[in-house]
Amino acid sequence: MSAGSGGGSRTNSGPAEDLLIELDRDAGVPLHRQIEASIRASIRAGRLRAGASLPPTRALAAGLGVSRGVVVEAYQQLTAEGYLASRSGGYTQVAASMPAAAEAGATAPGARPPARGVFKVDFGYGRTDVSQFPRAAWLRSVRTVLTTTPNDRFAYLDGRGVPELHEALCDYLNRVRGTSAVPGDMVICGGYGQGIALLIQVLVQRGARRIALEDPSSNDDARVLAAAAGLDVVGIPVGPDGVRVDALHRADADAVVLTPSHQWPTGGVLSAAARAEVIRWAERRGAIVIEDDYDAEYRYDRSPVGAMQGLAPDHVVYCGTASKTLAPGLRLGWLVAPPHLVADVAAAKVLADRGSPVIDQLTFADFLARGEFDRHLRRMRPVYRRRRDALLDALRTHLPDLRPAGIAAGQHVVAWLPPGLDETAVVTAAARHGLGIHGVGPYRIAGTGPGGLIFGYAILGEAAIAEGIALLARAVREVRGS
Ligand SMILES: Cc1ncc(COP(=O)(O)O)c(C=O)c1O
Repeated sequence: MSAGSGGGSRTNSGPAEDLLIELDRDAGVPLHRQIEASIRASIRAGRLRAGASLPPTRALAAGLGVSRGVVVEAYQQLTAEGYLASRSGGYTQVAASMPAAAEAGATAPGARPPARGVFKVDFGYGRTDVSQFPRAAWLRSVRTVLTTTPNDRFAYLDGRGVPELHEALCDYLNRVRGTSAVPGDMVICGGYGQGIALLIQVLVQRGARRIALEDPSSNDDARVLAAAAGLDVVGIPVGPDGVRVDALHRADADAVVLTPSHQWPTGGVLSAAARAEVIRWAERRGAIVIEDDYDAEYRYDRSPVGAMQGLAPDHVVYCGTASKTLAPGLRLGWLVAPPHLVADVAAAKVLADRGSPVIDQLTFADFLARGEFDRHLRRMRPVYRRRRDALLDALRTHLPDLRPAGIAAGQHVVAWLPPGLDETAVVTAAARHGLGIHGVGPYRIAGTGPGGLIFGYAILGEAAIAEGIALLARAVREVRGS
Protein backbone atom coordinates (compact mmCIF):
# COMPACT_ATOMS: atom_id res chain seq x y z
CA MET A 1 0.00 0.00 0.00
CA SER A 2 1.42 3.36 -0.85
CA ALA A 3 1.50 6.19 1.61
CA GLY A 4 -0.70 8.19 -0.75
CA SER A 5 -3.57 5.68 -0.93
CA GLY A 6 -5.65 3.35 1.22
CA GLY A 7 -5.48 3.24 5.02
CA GLY A 8 -2.37 5.39 5.43
CA SER A 9 -3.44 8.05 2.94
CA ARG A 10 -3.22 11.79 3.53
CA THR A 11 -4.87 14.23 1.22
CA ASN A 12 -3.10 17.36 2.39
CA SER A 13 -0.22 18.74 0.35
CA GLY A 14 3.09 18.68 2.21
CA PRO A 15 6.75 17.85 1.90
CA ALA A 16 6.10 14.28 0.86
CA GLU A 17 3.87 15.36 -2.00
CA ASP A 18 6.40 18.05 -2.97
CA LEU A 19 8.99 15.31 -3.45
CA LEU A 20 6.55 12.82 -4.96
CA ILE A 21 7.60 10.13 -2.50
CA GLU A 22 5.28 7.17 -2.22
CA LEU A 23 5.98 4.47 0.35
CA ASP A 24 4.81 0.90 0.01
CA ARG A 25 4.68 -0.53 3.50
CA ASP A 26 3.93 -4.04 2.18
CA ALA A 27 6.89 -4.22 -0.19
CA GLY A 28 9.33 -5.67 2.30
CA VAL A 29 11.84 -2.91 1.40
CA PRO A 30 13.00 -0.79 4.35
CA LEU A 31 11.34 2.61 4.36
CA HIS A 32 14.62 4.55 4.38
CA ARG A 33 15.68 2.66 1.24
CA GLN A 34 12.39 3.58 -0.47
CA ILE A 35 12.91 7.25 0.40
CA GLU A 36 16.50 7.12 -0.89
CA ALA A 37 15.43 5.47 -4.13
CA SER A 38 12.68 7.97 -4.69
CA ILE A 39 14.89 11.04 -4.13
CA ARG A 40 17.72 9.51 -6.17
CA ALA A 41 15.33 8.89 -9.07
CA SER A 42 14.02 12.47 -8.87
CA ILE A 43 17.54 13.87 -9.02
CA ARG A 44 18.50 11.63 -11.94
CA ALA A 45 15.39 12.58 -13.88
CA GLY A 46 16.04 16.29 -13.29
CA ARG A 47 12.85 16.77 -11.26
CA LEU A 48 15.10 17.87 -8.39
CA ARG A 49 17.76 20.17 -9.74
CA ALA A 50 21.19 21.07 -8.36
CA GLY A 51 20.82 23.44 -5.43
CA ALA A 52 17.16 22.57 -4.76
CA SER A 53 16.35 22.48 -1.03
CA LEU A 54 14.96 19.33 0.53
CA PRO A 55 12.37 19.53 3.28
CA PRO A 56 13.72 19.42 6.85
CA THR A 57 13.90 15.82 8.09
CA ARG A 58 11.28 16.45 10.77
CA ALA A 59 8.77 17.87 8.28
CA LEU A 60 9.31 15.13 5.71
CA ALA A 61 9.05 12.45 8.38
CA ALA A 62 5.77 13.89 9.62
CA GLY A 63 4.46 14.14 6.08
CA LEU A 64 5.32 10.52 5.32
CA GLY A 65 4.16 9.19 8.67
CA VAL A 66 7.57 7.71 9.54
CA SER A 67 10.01 8.36 12.35
CA ARG A 68 12.53 11.13 11.86
CA GLY A 69 15.41 8.64 12.07
CA VAL A 70 14.19 6.96 8.85
CA VAL A 71 14.50 10.21 6.90
CA VAL A 72 17.83 11.09 8.52
CA GLU A 73 19.20 7.72 7.43
CA ALA A 74 18.02 8.26 3.85
CA TYR A 75 19.52 11.75 3.67
CA GLN A 76 22.83 10.49 5.13
CA GLN A 77 23.08 7.72 2.55
CA LEU A 78 22.37 10.11 -0.34
CA THR A 79 24.89 12.59 1.04
CA ALA A 80 27.50 9.81 1.18
CA GLU A 81 26.71 8.98 -2.46
CA GLY A 82 27.20 12.64 -3.45
CA TYR A 83 23.58 13.35 -4.39
CA LEU A 84 22.89 15.64 -1.43
CA ALA A 85 24.92 18.20 0.49
CA SER A 86 24.41 19.84 3.86
CA ARG A 87 23.93 23.56 3.96
CA SER A 88 24.69 25.86 6.84
CA GLY A 89 21.65 26.15 9.06
CA GLY A 90 21.12 22.40 9.01
CA TYR A 91 19.31 22.29 5.66
CA THR A 92 19.94 19.71 2.99
CA GLN A 93 20.05 20.45 -0.70
CA VAL A 94 20.74 18.66 -3.96
CA ALA A 95 24.50 18.74 -4.56
CA ALA A 96 25.84 21.22 -7.11
CA SER A 97 27.67 18.51 -9.05
CA MET A 98 26.11 15.12 -9.48
CA PRO A 99 27.82 11.75 -9.24
CA ALA A 100 28.81 10.56 -12.73
CA ALA A 101 26.06 7.97 -12.82
CA ALA A 102 23.44 10.58 -12.08
CA GLU A 103 24.69 13.01 -14.69
CA ALA A 104 24.67 10.42 -17.44
CA GLY A 105 20.93 10.07 -17.43
CA ALA A 106 19.96 13.43 -16.08
CA THR A 107 18.04 15.27 -18.71
CA ALA A 108 15.36 17.40 -17.15
CA PRO A 109 11.98 16.91 -18.78
CA GLY A 110 11.52 19.72 -21.27
CA ALA A 111 15.11 20.89 -20.79
CA ARG A 112 16.26 22.93 -23.77
CA PRO A 113 19.35 21.81 -25.65
CA PRO A 114 22.45 23.92 -25.02
CA ALA A 115 21.52 25.89 -28.13
CA ARG A 116 24.39 27.61 -29.93
CA GLY A 117 26.54 27.57 -26.81
CA VAL A 118 29.01 25.48 -28.75
CA PHE A 119 30.38 28.38 -30.81
CA LYS A 120 33.44 30.45 -29.97
CA VAL A 121 31.62 33.46 -31.42
CA ASP A 122 27.92 33.50 -32.27
CA PHE A 123 26.39 36.06 -34.63
CA GLY A 124 22.91 34.64 -33.97
CA TYR A 125 20.32 37.39 -34.45
CA GLY A 126 17.33 38.32 -32.31
CA ARG A 127 19.28 38.88 -29.11
CA THR A 128 19.44 42.03 -27.04
CA ASP A 129 22.15 42.80 -24.55
CA VAL A 130 20.15 41.86 -21.48
CA SER A 131 23.22 42.38 -19.28
CA GLN A 132 22.42 46.07 -19.72
CA PHE A 133 18.86 45.75 -18.43
CA PRO A 134 18.19 48.85 -16.28
CA ARG A 135 17.61 46.89 -13.09
CA ALA A 136 17.81 49.78 -10.62
CA ALA A 137 15.37 51.97 -12.52
CA TRP A 138 13.00 49.05 -13.14
CA LEU A 139 13.13 48.19 -9.46
CA ARG A 140 12.18 51.76 -8.55
CA SER A 141 9.13 51.44 -10.77
CA VAL A 142 8.19 48.03 -9.34
CA ARG A 143 8.47 49.47 -5.85
CA THR A 144 6.31 52.46 -6.76
CA VAL A 145 3.67 50.18 -8.25
CA LEU A 146 3.62 47.83 -5.28
CA THR A 147 3.42 50.60 -2.75
CA THR A 148 0.89 52.83 -4.46
CA THR A 149 -1.48 50.60 -6.44
CA PRO A 150 -4.83 49.90 -4.75
CA ASN A 151 -5.60 46.22 -4.22
CA ASP A 152 -8.55 46.17 -6.59
CA ARG A 153 -6.24 46.90 -9.52
CA PHE A 154 -4.77 43.40 -9.17
CA ALA A 155 -8.04 41.77 -10.19
CA TYR A 156 -8.79 40.39 -13.69
CA LEU A 157 -8.29 42.87 -16.52
CA ASP A 158 -10.05 43.47 -19.76
CA GLY A 159 -8.06 42.26 -22.77
CA ARG A 160 -6.68 45.65 -23.72
CA GLY A 161 -4.43 46.15 -20.72
CA VAL A 162 -4.01 48.91 -18.15
CA PRO A 163 -4.94 52.51 -19.08
CA GLU A 164 -1.74 53.91 -17.53
CA LEU A 165 0.36 51.94 -20.01
CA HIS A 166 -1.88 52.86 -22.94
CA GLU A 167 -1.37 56.52 -22.12
CA ALA A 168 2.37 56.30 -21.50
CA LEU A 169 2.91 54.33 -24.71
CA CYS A 170 0.73 56.66 -26.78
CA ASP A 171 2.76 59.65 -25.57
CA TYR A 172 5.99 57.85 -26.36
CA LEU A 173 4.95 56.47 -29.76
CA ASN A 174 3.34 59.66 -31.02
CA ARG A 175 6.40 61.65 -29.96
CA VAL A 176 9.13 59.27 -31.13
CA ARG A 177 7.56 57.13 -33.87
CA GLY A 178 5.14 59.60 -35.41
CA THR A 179 2.17 57.32 -34.82
CA SER A 180 -1.34 58.64 -34.49
CA ALA A 181 -2.22 56.49 -31.49
CA VAL A 182 -5.03 57.02 -28.99
CA PRO A 183 -5.15 55.08 -25.70
CA GLY A 184 -8.45 53.43 -26.59
CA ASP A 185 -6.94 51.71 -29.64
CA MET A 186 -4.14 49.95 -27.81
CA VAL A 187 -3.87 46.30 -26.80
CA ILE A 188 -0.98 45.20 -24.58
CA CYS A 189 0.26 41.71 -25.46
CA GLY A 190 3.03 39.22 -24.84
CA GLY A 191 5.47 40.66 -27.37
CA TYR A 192 5.11 40.77 -31.13
CA GLY A 193 4.86 36.99 -31.12
CA GLN A 194 1.51 37.08 -29.37
CA GLY A 195 0.41 40.25 -31.15
CA ILE A 196 0.72 38.69 -34.60
CA ALA A 197 -1.02 35.52 -33.38
CA LEU A 198 -4.00 37.55 -32.14
CA LEU A 199 -4.16 39.56 -35.35
CA ILE A 200 -4.11 36.48 -37.57
CA GLN A 201 -6.87 34.93 -35.48
CA VAL A 202 -9.02 38.05 -35.85
CA LEU A 203 -8.34 38.35 -39.59
CA VAL A 204 -9.42 34.74 -40.11
CA GLN A 205 -12.59 35.30 -38.05
CA ARG A 206 -13.35 38.20 -40.35
CA GLY A 207 -13.02 36.12 -43.48
CA ALA A 208 -9.44 36.76 -44.59
CA ARG A 209 -8.11 34.09 -46.97
CA ARG A 210 -4.66 35.23 -47.97
CA ILE A 211 -1.83 37.04 -46.23
CA ALA A 212 1.22 38.58 -47.88
CA LEU A 213 4.60 38.41 -46.17
CA GLU A 214 7.93 39.91 -47.09
CA ASP A 215 10.24 37.48 -48.87
CA PRO A 216 12.61 36.95 -47.08
CA SER A 217 11.18 37.42 -43.58
CA SER A 218 11.19 35.68 -40.23
CA ASN A 219 10.13 32.06 -40.43
CA ASP A 220 9.00 31.43 -36.87
CA ASP A 221 6.00 33.69 -36.37
CA ALA A 222 3.58 35.09 -38.99
CA ARG A 223 4.44 32.46 -41.60
CA VAL A 224 3.83 29.49 -39.32
CA LEU A 225 0.81 31.01 -37.61
CA ALA A 226 -0.89 32.02 -40.85
CA ALA A 227 -0.40 28.60 -42.41
CA ALA A 228 -1.70 26.91 -39.26
CA ALA A 229 -4.77 29.16 -39.34
CA GLY A 230 -5.51 28.05 -42.90
CA LEU A 231 -4.48 31.26 -44.67
CA ASP A 232 -2.72 31.19 -48.04
CA VAL A 233 0.72 32.67 -47.55
CA VAL A 234 2.20 34.61 -50.43
CA GLY A 235 5.73 36.01 -50.42
CA ILE A 236 6.32 39.53 -51.75
CA PRO A 237 9.92 39.98 -52.94
CA VAL A 238 12.02 42.49 -51.13
CA GLY A 239 14.45 44.83 -52.90
CA PRO A 240 17.12 47.14 -51.50
CA ASP A 241 14.37 49.51 -50.32
CA GLY A 242 12.05 47.00 -48.71
CA VAL A 243 9.05 45.23 -50.15
CA ARG A 244 8.27 45.57 -53.89
CA VAL A 245 4.88 47.20 -54.03
CA ASP A 246 4.26 46.21 -57.66
CA ALA A 247 4.29 42.56 -56.53
CA LEU A 248 1.91 43.36 -53.66
CA HIS A 249 -0.64 44.62 -56.21
CA ARG A 250 -0.65 41.20 -57.86
CA ALA A 251 -0.91 39.25 -54.61
CA ASP A 252 -4.69 39.36 -54.08
CA ALA A 253 -4.09 39.47 -50.32
CA ASP A 254 -6.33 40.59 -47.44
CA ALA A 255 -3.42 41.69 -45.27
CA VAL A 256 0.31 42.26 -45.48
CA VAL A 257 2.95 42.07 -42.74
CA LEU A 258 5.76 44.59 -43.22
CA THR A 259 8.91 45.70 -41.41
CA PRO A 260 9.01 49.04 -43.25
CA SER A 261 11.50 50.92 -41.08
CA HIS A 262 14.20 48.23 -41.21
CA GLN A 263 13.24 45.22 -43.28
CA TRP A 264 14.00 41.97 -41.49
CA PRO A 265 16.49 40.63 -42.40
CA THR A 266 17.74 42.65 -45.39
CA GLY A 267 17.60 46.04 -43.66
CA GLY A 268 15.97 48.13 -46.42
CA VAL A 269 13.80 51.14 -45.57
CA LEU A 270 10.52 51.46 -47.44
CA SER A 271 10.53 54.79 -49.28
CA ALA A 272 7.91 57.47 -48.66
CA ALA A 273 6.46 56.85 -52.13
CA ALA A 274 6.26 53.09 -51.54
CA ARG A 275 4.58 53.62 -48.15
CA ALA A 276 1.95 55.83 -49.75
CA GLU A 277 1.43 53.21 -52.45
CA VAL A 278 0.97 50.43 -49.85
CA ILE A 279 -1.61 52.58 -48.04
CA ARG A 280 -3.47 53.20 -51.31
CA TRP A 281 -3.45 49.44 -51.94
CA ALA A 282 -4.91 48.79 -48.47
CA GLU A 283 -7.59 51.47 -48.86
CA ARG A 284 -8.65 50.18 -52.27
CA ARG A 285 -8.89 46.56 -51.10
CA GLY A 286 -10.11 47.16 -47.55
CA ALA A 287 -6.93 45.31 -46.55
CA ILE A 288 -4.93 45.53 -43.34
CA VAL A 289 -1.24 46.47 -43.11
CA ILE A 290 0.50 44.95 -40.09
CA GLU A 291 3.53 47.10 -39.29
CA ASP A 292 6.18 45.26 -37.26
CA ASP A 293 8.25 48.13 -35.84
CA TYR A 294 10.58 45.76 -34.02
CA ASP A 295 13.85 47.73 -33.80
CA ALA A 296 12.81 51.29 -34.60
CA GLU A 297 14.54 52.74 -31.57
CA TYR A 298 18.03 52.17 -32.94
CA ARG A 299 18.99 54.62 -35.66
CA TYR A 300 22.66 55.42 -36.11
CA ASP A 301 23.47 57.52 -39.11
CA ARG A 302 20.18 58.51 -40.60
CA SER A 303 17.20 60.39 -39.31
CA PRO A 304 14.35 58.31 -37.94
CA VAL A 305 11.64 57.15 -40.31
CA GLY A 306 8.14 57.62 -38.94
CA ALA A 307 5.77 54.69 -38.56
CA MET A 308 3.29 53.93 -41.34
CA GLN A 309 0.47 53.82 -38.80
CA GLY A 310 0.63 57.61 -38.61
CA LEU A 311 -0.32 57.80 -42.30
CA ALA A 312 -3.41 55.60 -42.14
CA PRO A 313 -4.57 54.64 -38.62
CA ASP A 314 -7.68 52.99 -40.08
CA HIS A 315 -5.71 50.53 -42.18
CA VAL A 316 -2.47 49.91 -40.29
CA VAL A 317 -1.97 47.90 -37.11
CA TYR A 318 1.19 49.10 -35.42
CA CYS A 319 3.14 46.42 -33.48
CA GLY A 320 5.82 47.38 -30.96
CA THR A 321 7.88 45.32 -28.54
CA ALA A 322 10.19 45.75 -25.56
CA SER A 323 12.25 42.77 -26.75
CA LYS A 324 14.89 44.84 -28.54
CA THR A 325 15.02 47.73 -26.11
CA LEU A 326 14.73 46.12 -22.68
CA ALA A 327 14.64 42.32 -22.71
CA PRO A 328 12.82 39.65 -24.73
CA GLY A 329 12.04 37.78 -21.51
CA LEU A 330 9.77 40.61 -20.36
CA ARG A 331 7.26 39.51 -23.02
CA LEU A 332 5.85 43.00 -23.35
CA GLY A 333 4.45 44.17 -26.64
CA TRP A 334 1.76 46.54 -27.83
CA LEU A 335 -0.61 46.93 -30.73
CA VAL A 336 -2.23 50.11 -31.97
CA ALA A 337 -5.16 48.79 -33.97
CA PRO A 338 -7.72 50.48 -36.22
CA PRO A 339 -10.81 51.23 -34.08
CA HIS A 340 -12.90 48.64 -35.92
CA LEU A 341 -10.49 45.84 -34.89
CA VAL A 342 -9.70 46.73 -31.27
CA ALA A 343 -12.60 44.96 -29.57
CA ASP A 344 -11.99 41.72 -31.49
CA VAL A 345 -8.25 41.78 -30.76
CA ALA A 346 -8.94 42.42 -27.06
CA ALA A 347 -11.44 39.53 -27.01
CA ALA A 348 -8.82 37.24 -28.60
CA LYS A 349 -6.33 38.37 -25.94
CA VAL A 350 -8.76 37.46 -23.14
CA LEU A 351 -9.25 34.04 -24.69
CA ALA A 352 -5.50 33.56 -25.06
CA ASP A 353 -4.43 34.36 -21.49
CA ARG A 354 -6.94 36.70 -19.76
CA GLY A 355 -4.60 39.66 -20.10
CA SER A 356 -0.92 40.44 -19.64
CA PRO A 357 0.43 40.63 -16.07
CA VAL A 358 -0.80 43.81 -14.42
CA ILE A 359 2.26 44.52 -12.27
CA ASP A 360 4.54 44.38 -15.32
CA GLN A 361 2.25 46.70 -17.25
CA LEU A 362 2.04 49.23 -14.43
CA THR A 363 5.79 49.02 -13.91
CA PHE A 364 6.47 49.71 -17.58
CA ALA A 365 4.00 52.61 -17.52
CA ASP A 366 5.82 54.14 -14.55
CA PHE A 367 9.20 53.47 -16.21
CA LEU A 368 8.06 55.30 -19.35
CA ALA A 369 6.47 58.16 -17.46
CA ARG A 370 9.65 58.77 -15.46
CA GLY A 371 11.64 59.10 -18.69
CA GLU A 372 13.68 55.99 -17.87
CA PHE A 373 12.96 54.36 -21.23
CA ASP A 374 14.37 57.37 -23.11
CA ARG A 375 17.35 57.43 -20.75
CA HIS A 376 18.05 53.72 -21.29
CA LEU A 377 17.91 54.13 -25.06
CA ARG A 378 20.22 57.14 -24.96
CA ARG A 379 22.69 54.96 -23.06
CA MET A 380 22.37 51.93 -25.33
CA ARG A 381 22.45 53.56 -28.78
CA PRO A 382 26.19 54.37 -28.66
CA VAL A 383 26.92 50.88 -27.30
CA TYR A 384 25.23 49.17 -30.25
CA ARG A 385 26.64 51.70 -32.67
CA ARG A 386 30.20 50.90 -31.56
CA ARG A 387 29.51 47.19 -32.06
CA ARG A 388 28.07 47.81 -35.51
CA ASP A 389 31.10 49.94 -36.43
CA ALA A 390 33.45 47.20 -35.21
CA LEU A 391 31.59 44.72 -37.41
CA LEU A 392 31.74 46.90 -40.51
CA ASP A 393 35.45 47.67 -39.93
CA ALA A 394 36.30 44.00 -39.56
CA LEU A 395 34.29 43.07 -42.67
CA ARG A 396 36.05 45.79 -44.67
CA THR A 397 39.43 44.51 -43.54
CA HIS A 398 38.98 40.74 -43.78
CA LEU A 399 36.17 40.22 -46.26
CA PRO A 400 36.03 43.29 -48.51
CA ASP A 401 33.97 41.57 -51.20
CA LEU A 402 31.00 40.97 -48.87
CA ARG A 403 28.41 43.74 -49.29
CA PRO A 404 26.85 44.92 -45.98
CA ALA A 405 23.29 46.26 -46.19
CA GLY A 406 20.78 47.83 -43.85
CA ILE A 407 23.55 49.08 -41.62
CA ALA A 408 21.99 52.36 -40.49
CA ALA A 409 19.65 50.85 -37.94
CA GLY A 410 18.82 47.99 -35.65
CA GLN A 411 20.94 45.27 -34.08
CA HIS A 412 21.88 43.16 -37.08
CA VAL A 413 23.44 43.58 -40.50
CA VAL A 414 23.09 41.47 -43.63
CA ALA A 415 26.13 41.07 -45.84
CA TRP A 416 25.53 39.80 -49.36
CA LEU A 417 27.96 37.23 -50.70
CA PRO A 418 29.70 37.70 -54.05
CA PRO A 419 28.46 35.45 -56.88
CA GLY A 420 30.05 32.02 -56.72
CA LEU A 421 30.37 31.91 -52.93
CA ASP A 422 27.78 29.44 -51.70
CA GLU A 423 25.81 30.53 -48.62
CA THR A 424 25.24 27.08 -47.16
CA ALA A 425 28.88 26.10 -47.68
CA VAL A 426 30.03 29.25 -45.86
CA VAL A 427 27.60 28.76 -42.93
CA THR A 428 28.68 25.12 -42.59
CA ALA A 429 32.40 25.92 -42.80
CA ALA A 430 31.94 28.76 -40.30
CA ALA A 431 30.39 26.34 -37.81
CA ARG A 432 33.39 24.03 -38.22
CA HIS A 433 35.60 26.98 -37.30
CA GLY A 434 33.53 27.71 -34.19
CA LEU A 435 31.45 30.55 -35.62
CA GLY A 436 27.66 30.61 -35.40
CA ILE A 437 25.93 32.51 -38.20
CA HIS A 438 22.70 32.27 -40.16
CA GLY A 439 22.30 32.56 -43.91
CA VAL A 440 19.42 34.44 -45.54
CA GLY A 441 18.27 31.34 -47.45
CA PRO A 442 16.17 29.71 -44.69
CA TYR A 443 14.09 32.90 -44.45
CA ARG A 444 13.12 32.98 -48.11
CA ILE A 445 9.60 31.99 -49.07
CA ALA A 446 10.09 31.42 -52.83
CA GLY A 447 13.54 30.00 -52.12
CA THR A 448 15.64 31.99 -54.61
CA GLY A 449 17.91 35.02 -54.37
CA PRO A 450 21.49 35.98 -53.71
CA GLY A 451 23.39 34.40 -50.85
CA GLY A 452 23.76 36.45 -47.70
CA LEU A 453 24.76 36.20 -44.05
CA ILE A 454 22.91 37.71 -41.07
CA PHE A 455 25.18 39.19 -38.40
CA GLY A 456 23.50 39.76 -35.03
CA TYR A 457 25.93 41.95 -33.13
CA ALA A 458 23.90 43.16 -30.17
CA ILE A 459 25.46 41.02 -27.45
CA LEU A 460 29.03 40.85 -28.74
CA GLY A 461 31.83 43.13 -27.58
CA GLU A 462 34.12 44.66 -30.17
CA ALA A 463 36.89 42.09 -29.57
CA ALA A 464 34.49 39.16 -30.04
CA ILE A 465 33.18 40.74 -33.23
CA ALA A 466 36.72 41.05 -34.63
CA GLU A 467 37.45 37.44 -33.65
CA GLY A 468 34.21 36.29 -35.30
CA ILE A 469 35.03 37.97 -38.59
CA ALA A 470 38.54 36.48 -38.53
CA LEU A 471 36.95 33.03 -38.10
CA LEU A 472 34.55 33.76 -40.95
CA ALA A 473 37.41 34.86 -43.21
CA ARG A 474 39.13 31.53 -42.54
CA ALA A 475 35.90 29.67 -43.35
CA VAL A 476 35.47 31.63 -46.59
CA ARG A 477 39.07 30.89 -47.62
CA GLU A 478 38.40 27.21 -47.00
CA VAL A 479 35.24 27.24 -49.12
CA ARG A 480 37.03 29.07 -51.92
CA GLY A 481 39.97 26.68 -51.72
CA SER A 482 37.74 23.66 -52.12
C1 LIG B 1 11.28 40.73 -37.25
C2 LIG B 1 11.04 40.69 -35.78
N1 LIG B 1 9.88 41.13 -35.30
C3 LIG B 1 9.62 41.14 -33.97
C4 LIG B 1 10.53 40.66 -33.07
C5 LIG B 1 10.21 40.68 -31.60
O1 LIG B 1 9.42 39.60 -31.24
P1 LIG B 1 8.86 39.50 -29.74
O2 LIG B 1 8.29 40.83 -29.40
O3 LIG B 1 7.82 38.43 -29.80
O4 LIG B 1 9.99 39.13 -28.84
C6 LIG B 1 11.75 40.17 -33.52
C7 LIG B 1 12.73 39.65 -32.55
O5 LIG B 1 13.81 39.24 -32.85
C8 LIG B 1 12.01 40.19 -34.91
O6 LIG B 1 13.18 39.74 -35.41
